[in-house]
Amino acid sequence: MNNKKRETIATGIVVFALLMLSLSGCADVRRLTYPKHFTWLGKSEVNSVMHRFSDSLWRIDTAAKRKSPGDREIINLELSKMIEEALSLMATRQNEGSESIVTNHLLIDEHLDDFLVDLNQAKMLIENDPNNTYAIGNLTGSCAACHQFR
Ligand code: HEC
Repeated sequence: MNNKKRETIATGIVVFALLMLSLSGCADVRRLTYPKHFTWLGKSEVNSVMHRFSDSLWRIDTAAKRKSPGDREIINLELSKMIEEALSLMATRQNEGSESIVTNHLLIDEHLDDFLVDLNQAKMLIENDPNNTYAIGNLTGSCAACHQFR
């Protein structure tokens, strides 16, 4: 085999490899380029959770301002929903591999635990004392803990 022929074959192999890589789709490429314990959180996945957070927070704020009977239940329900959302985000992170604690969202990795603590604390305070809107007011700050560097 002369050099020219060898070159042609080598080029052919590289082209074929690239073709297979592009055919296998982005998900697989990601799997190749990131460590095993890494979980990819899609932008729309994160954003839709965030929009539900916003909705819940709005309902909580409205209820807290109104201070009429039944509002405590509304606040409690919304807090439960937010806790569920946060937990599901947490579960997604831990899906692939046992100790998956790294995602493409550094902020989520760093702050999700704290956020869950804040939510549970607010729920506990509201259950003990319905007039305690202090914890509710603090929730906005809990969002900001994750958002301040964006
Ligand atoms: C654990 C971290 C974290 C917490 C806590 C958090 N967020 Fe977010 N939020 C993010 C990240 C990361 C993004 C950006 C997603 C992206 O890259 O598009 C985001 C984006 C958003 C967006 C923009 C969504 C869009 O479609 O562009 C809204 C609205 C939002 N958050 C609301 C909230 C509210 C309200 C709270 C508190 C109840 C909250 N977030 C708490 C991490 C967090």
